[in-house]
Amino acid sequence: MALERLRLESFRCLPSAELAAHPSLNIIAGGNGTGKTSLLEAIYILGRGRSFRAPRLSGVIADGQDAAVVFGEITDPDARLGIQIARSGTEIRINGESGGTVSQLAEALPVQLIDPNVHELVQGGPGERRRFLDWGVFHVKHDFLDGWRRFRRALQQRNAALRQGASAEAVAAWEPDLLAGAAIVDQSRRDYISEISPILQRYASKFLEMTVKLNYRPGWSDGAGLAEALAVGADRDRAYGATQSGPHRAELEILMDGIPARHRLSRGQHKLLGSALILGQSDWVQQVSGKQSVLLVDEPAAELDAEHLAALLNGVTESGAQVFITALKTGALPVRVDYQGFHVERGEVSVLV
Ligand SMILES: Nc1ncnc2c1ncn2[C@@H]1O[C@H](COP(=O)(O)OP(=O)(O)OP(=O)(O)O)[C@@H](O)[C@H]1O
Ligand SMILES: [Mg+2]
Repeated sequence: MALERLRLESFRCLPSAELAAHPSLNIIAGGNGTGKTSLLEAIYILGRGRSFRAPRLSGVIADGQDAAVVFGEITDPDARLGIQIARSGTEIRINGESGGTVSQLAEALPVQLIDPNVHELVQGGPGERRRFLDWGVFHVKHDFLDGWRRFRRALQQRNAALRQGASAEAVAAWEPDLLAGAAIVDQSRRDYISEISPILQRYASKFLEMTVKLNYRPGWSDGAGLAEALAVGADRDRAYGATQSGPHRAELEILMDGIPARHRLSRGQHKLLGSALILGQSDWVQQVSGKQSVLLVDEPAAELDAEHLAALLNGVTESGAQVFITALKTGALPVRVDYQGFHVERGEVSVLV
């Protein structure tokens, strides 16, 4: 599947823009502040239902306008995705029908991003890595979403009971559902990690010549089950008014040559490792689901020397994903494959021939 056409209205500095995308590689060039990252952001929103830089979607509405629109035509299988972002809320339309959900968007357009903040995947908090992990698990493990929803619902109810100072029985009433959902989430994650480990290794050694290992901690103390962790932590949970054990507290530790990567690597190496994780995952999702991923690469040259930039771009263009890369100038990037160039200036996107 690929994004064939993207259309935007009142999206940040782009009043109205349209782009007919190349199925493999697209390079978006333009000066600072012209809207390159905004184009990637719009594609990201189409596949994720959220932005990678605006905490609220309404931040993308062009100044002075009431609503922004992002519309995408996807091929193989065909789908039309539309998102209307107003200050009062967001509406998702799938094939012209309103009431679409974020998981439908994700299902239709698997999007990943490599940008100058990609090092945060390694150096940032555990939430970044959980989101990264669960995106891949969602695409290849079909009972994950149901398990996750069941767990989340029970967790919210248990937390509400804890905050209201409800009886031990009322708190425990949510635990069978919480445990059933958590078991699915936990098992899907474990299976997924063991499946992707060899492919991540391959990408990491391409960029860094080191061994990489993922160390998964489920979100409660190893050895005991979650039921026991909930029982042992009952007083603590009551004091916090929130459940402190469960898959929402899982951590994915990344070891390079056996040592935690976040305390060891240089900034450029963090970027390469983060990129390797994303590319490996994108590759695996494509292999298992048969869906082509979309890979957004913002300013790849930042922080990389010429040799590593070439290695990263090679990895990106050989990944089989449909790629969108931004650059100040199209010719500035060492790519050796066919691509479609676009130029962004004064709120307009034009095709480079
Ligand atoms: N809601 C908004 N309405 C209008 N303009 C906006 C809005 N939000 C951001 N902008 C402007 O949009 C412009 C484009 O930003 P964007 O980050 O896409 O640029 P860019 O081409 O990626 O630049 P750079 O090369 O510096 O990364 C910026 O000048 C910014 O001030
Ligand atoms: Mg930018």
